[in-house]
Amino acid sequence: MMQTIDDLAVEGLRVLVRADLNVPMDGGRVADDGRIRASLPTLAVLKDRGARIVVCAHLGRPGGRPDPRYSLAPVAVRLAGLLGGEVEFAADTTGPAARAAVAALRPGGVVLLENLRFDAAETSKDDAQRGRFADQLAGLADLYVSDGFGAVHRKHASVYDVALRLPHAAGYLVQAEVAALGRLTAGIRRPYLVVLGGAKVTDKFGAFGSLLGAADRILVGGAMAFPFLAAQGHPTGTSLLAADQVDAAAVCLDKAAPGQIELPSDLVVAAEVAAAAPHRVVAADAIPAGQMGLDIGPQTAARFAAALGEAATVFWNGPMGVFELAPYAAGTRAVASAITEGTAFTVAGGGDTGAAIRALGLAEEAFGHVSTGGGASLEFIQGTALPGLAVLEAP
Ligand code: 3PG
Ligand code: MG
Repeated sequence: MMQTIDDLAVEGLRVLVRADLNVPMDGGRVADDGRIRASLPTLAVLKDRGARIVVCAHLGRPGGRPDPRYSLAPVAVRLAGLLGGEVEFAADTTGPAARAAVAALRPGGVVLLENLRFDAAETSKDDAQRGRFADQLAGLADLYVSDGFGAVHRKHASVYDVALRLPHAAGYLVQAEVAALGRLTAGIRRPYLVVLGGAKVTDKFGAFGSLLGAADRILVGGAMAFPFLAAQGHPTGTSLLAADQVDAAAVCLDKAAPGQIELPSDLVVAAEVAAAAPHRVVAADAIPAGQMGLDIGPQTAARFAAALGEAATVFWNGPMGVFELAPYAAGTRAVASAITEGTAFTVAGGGDTGAAIRALGLAEEAFGHVSTGGGASLEFIQGTALPGLAVLEAP
């Protein structure tokens, strides 16, 4: 059984909270604070109960060494504003700054450690190396609370190993995510449609085979579409193509029932990722040389919307295009609107998907659930054991 924070006596104790504060940044500014907000219920309750709170998290993929572009310092400022009260920022992860900040914590006080991925040990595949880092993290606290749902599919020191070293519990976000996403693992109402897009393509191909077994139809947009188009022998121009996934795409096409995978038939293309770049709609099988697909086209958007109108269950992971730039937002908007207009049980998942919903001014309440996890929600609904959740089950 997974303990929750309601099972823990925390007053006066140092509680290490693993949060997912991996938010989109725009030139040192937090571009979307959805994941910070999602971490508030747990932090507010721990604060109320007089815990000494040590928050740890990652930002981006800095590659195991300090890189100021990936500092969590701006996140500490936003967290303080949202939580109300001060949030101390430690300029290292487990070094002298972190130890001093933790030692100075008063009951109800909060410190945020610098990006965990500034240390290569956090994500290391070597158990001993991760273990040593987890020892240092565990040394900063008496208890461990896992609330970074978006990272529970990663066997990382702060997600997995530290839970082996401290009494632990799931935070409210992890609890809520597990409850909501559980509805996509059994007794699914059909037709069940999955919409896949976004930029982190490799992660999603790992899930595709199992999704083919579960979903009636899979609608593919975003950068996810290019390996499929390439597998069909079509040119992809300068599109963001995960070339190492073309074979995997071919296998998926082979394995799928006729019509089960729906690909874009038209795309919005431009020579560069820029709002001001001249852009036009072309057939998806004829992306011109020197041009890149930046959104699904209107015909595809209408087709996807019609399909979604008939769904009883929808899981949506990943935007259809570069929604951050107005000329390439229409596909994502059309798909999101179609999902929320129906009567289906709908789940949207992923850091960028949530950000797109908010950036386009759509109501999060219109979805059955908006998950903070992209890869994590995708792996969860396959029914596989996620390292960061499995470790919480053990006492
Ligand atoms: C995410 O954004 O999906 C999570 O924060 C995990 O990040 P990662 O894919 O870089 O491990
Ligand atoms: Mg993600």
